[in-house]
Amino acid sequence: MSAPNRAASARSARRPAASPPLRRFETRWIQVDPSASRISFRDAVRAGLRNAPKTLPSRFFYDETGSRLFEEICQLPEYYLTRAESEILEAVAPDLAREMPDIRMLVELGSGSAVKTEALLQAFDTDARPLSYAPIDVSRSALEEGVERLELNHPRLEILPAIAEYESGLAQIHALGLGPKLLLWLGSSIGNLERSAAIAFLAHLRATMHEEDRLLIGIDLRKDRGALERAYDDSRGVTARFNLNLLTRINRELAGNFDLDQFRHRVHYDEPSGSVQSFIESRRAQRVSLRELGFEVAFEAGERIHTEDSHKYSVEEIDALTSEAGLGLVRRDLDQARRFTLNLFRPRV
Ligand code: AVI
Repeated sequence: MSAPNRAASARSARRPAASPPLRRFETRWIQVDPSASRISFRDAVRAGLRNAPKTLPSRFFYDETGSRLFEEICQLPEYYLTRAESEILEAVAPDLAREMPDIRMLVELGSGSAVKTEALLQAFDTDARPLSYAPIDVSRSALEEGVERLELNHPRLEILPAIAEYESGLAQIHALGLGPKLLLWLGSSIGNLERSAAIAFLAHLRATMHEEDRLLIGIDLRKDRGALERAYDDSRGVTARFNLNLLTRINRELAGNFDLDQFRHRVHYDEPSGSVQSFIESRRAQRVSLRELGFEVAFEAGERIHTEDSHKYSVEEIDALTSEAGLGLVRRDLDQARRFTLNLFRPRV
């Protein structure tokens, strides 16, 4: 044992090691029936690769590798969304907590590992109120990572995680009937829904809200094509790997034989619809077999699979969308560079 280590061990023999603060609650994993999920990966792949043009839904990006790659995307210099939203959250979290003294529960849709949420939890989790946090996500690994961190940082917080899709997770959390809620839908995940589906889902959220509940949504703004296309086609190729990971997932789960070197990541900003569209493009004419599904898929050279839409909105479009869903704006905050919005809503009567 080296001299400094000996000294340290002598000190720790005298003083009991600092123990972590005692947790008030055990983390309670909320059970959600996996068959409650909308459509299985298998059915989505079968239908999507038989479509013309071919499609695969972006919600299947988030297996373990996809979730890890997404966390990496959030750190990329080109992917400004996460930094812009964190900047707003850090600036306004204390105001939000003060302006909503009755909130007893934060429920987060698509929480991932809840890194950004820390600013809010820090502000809401004070001696003044008991607080529960219910993160809902399809990725077990991301949830577990977040729970482990939160258990250490917030010993007074009751954590109720649910491995689930939004609707089924929310239904279980609502059934607990735990006090006034602040629903969180951060990261501009609303952008991954078509406009009409976004309104329908907001209206569904609105229908689940009591008068005293609130909804906080992060929404990315329209901006110039260059910044948007760089955000979704970064120079390190992380987003390309994230997109192509869908093919790896098909190979693994459905016994496919996609050769990833024969496909590439493509991005296009469609200005009229405000949507950054992501594709997987075949580099040559080829056939791919999907043994588990019992069929082969033919690709022409340059043929694309449409994998994701990331819609961007103007402030006026956000107002139209949300008011159609029965939500009334309480406050809206932007980052300094005015790239991203954080919007707080109440249910309109
Ligand atoms: C999760 N979602 C809001 C991200 C987005 O910006 O559409 C997913 C993503 N796709 C590529 N980069 C990030």
